[in-house]
Amino acid sequence: NKPKNHILVIFGASGDLTYRKLIPAVFDLFNQKLLPKNFAILGIGRTEMENEDFRNKMQEGIQQFSVTKPSGEDEINSFVNQLYYFSFDTQSPDEYALLKWQLRELDEKCGTDGNFIYYMATPPSMYNVIPAQLAKQGLSDENDGFKRLIVEKPFGYDLETAQKLNNELLQHFKEEQIYRIDHYLGKETVQNLLVTRFSNGIFEPLWNRNYIHHVEITSAENIGVGNRGGYYEGSGAMRDMIQNHLLLLVGIVAMEPPTIIDSTNIRNEIAKVFHSLRPISEEEVPNYVIRGQYIASNIKGEKVKGYREEKGVDPNSRTETFVAMKCFIDNWRWADVPFYIRSGKMLPTRVTEIVIHFKSTPHHLFANNESIVNNHNQLVIRIQPDEGLLFKFGMKVPGAGFKVQNVNMDFHYSDLDSTHLPSAYERLLLDCMLGDSTLYHRGDAVEAAWKFVDPILKAWKNNSEIKVHGYPAGTWGPDVSDNLIDGENITWRYPCKNLANDGN
Ligand code: BG6
Repeated sequence: NKPKNHILVIFGASGDLTYRKLIPAVFDLFNQKLLPKNFAILGIGRTEMENEDFRNKMQEGIQQFSVTKPSGEDEINSFVNQLYYFSFDTQSPDEYALLKWQLRELDEKCGTDGNFIYYMATPPSMYNVIPAQLAKQGLSDENDGFKRLIVEKPFGYDLETAQKLNNELLQHFKEEQIYRIDHYLGKETVQNLLVTRFSNGIFEPLWNRNYIHHVEITSAENIGVGNRGGYYEGSGAMRDMIQNHLLLLVGIVAMEPPTIIDSTNIRNEIAKVFHSLRPISEEEVPNYVIRGQYIASNIKGEKVKGYREEKGVDPNSRTETFVAMKCFIDNWRWADVPFYIRSGKMLPTRVTEIVIHFKSTPHHLFANNESIVNNHNQLVIRIQPDEGLLFKFGMKVPGAGFKVQNVNMDFHYSDLDSTHLPSAYERLLLDCMLGDSTLYHRGDAVEAAWKFVDPILKAWKNNSEIKVHGYPAGTWGPDVSDNLIDGENITWRYPCKNLANDGN
């Protein structure tokens, strides 16, 4: 099932996202013969460039970042020859008539039947400007071919701005034409969560408050903010990771089985989870949410900068680079089951995983054995890296008595014969080309996620007494995040040790 002929128009084509992610992902589609017969990419940016310069630059990006890698000159040339570049000032309404002309001409030349996908890879301030101007030129009109709009994150800065953006977009494009991207939904292992849950008879009966003690979701990065300090200062981990990627994981872990796998049903169930998140009031924030910021440390003998010393960052910044929080989903399935979620930069390793902690046996037959006290089964769903599933359970140690040891049943994606794990952008772009929005956010769900996060952001803004805890770069965040976890001797799962010498 191939997409219809079309042109992919990328706004912000001279930027990093286009170079590192988008074009390499489209190349991967090309390499697997998944693109339509007639196809072109029109890159749009303010930087002046000829088609040839754009093609050369993108070729470099493909060599470096594509998953499938080009097999030779001919192959890469036949792909980049479909790339075009048009430089104009997207702030200036007058110039959109030129764009229309340019698009029509390319459409005719390539035989793409008036089908256009517009990708907003621009700064967020342009997310409402460009669609409005496109509509003014009749370029959102679907009378002569489909017109789809992909909007990158961040989708809004808070609830109010997200609502405003939704309203503005809906004036020019219909909801079915709008694709709000969250690259976590494009990850193979995130989609596999649906398959794990809903294609295995053994999980669903256990997947509820009767058998699950708590759920833990971690997305850790071992890098800092790099050259994105300017952006990150205004964002912080709550907006950058929690509001979108981590709440999405909560949504997929907690959703009810959809009646069928399609965009309406899956997205309805995810939205229902967001609507059921128990609100955390401004006053409750310190009891439910910990924020941290990495400070300078020593990792393996090397000095590492603190966040406040990063380029583009205020030396007195209170922006969080780490968030740990406890939340609840108020519905029948999950009443009173804590969901612990955390995300941070400059942690000891890069890992995203979901851990389902099952309740222990009601009566501890082997409780005199130290290793089994507080023992419980865990299902670890590893989103990245080393994608896979790990189930932890107790086994008798051979020999006298009843000594119990925890062992693992472990599946790695890398064990499969075919291990082409498509990049998130490859999957999502293909879906949009096919007109399938299942793996894209719906407007109401985005707003519901903001509604949950908004009081937390407000509390941090309004109450300077709420601490930003420093944590040495290379450690698992502030120690106090362990206090969030209810239950004796239960802590976060630490997939590896702290790295910093002066950490704990
Ligand atoms: C992005 C954030 O959305 O996700 C980045 O803006 C973060 O700050 C990135 O590094 C993490 O994505 P991944 O796929 O590496 O987990």
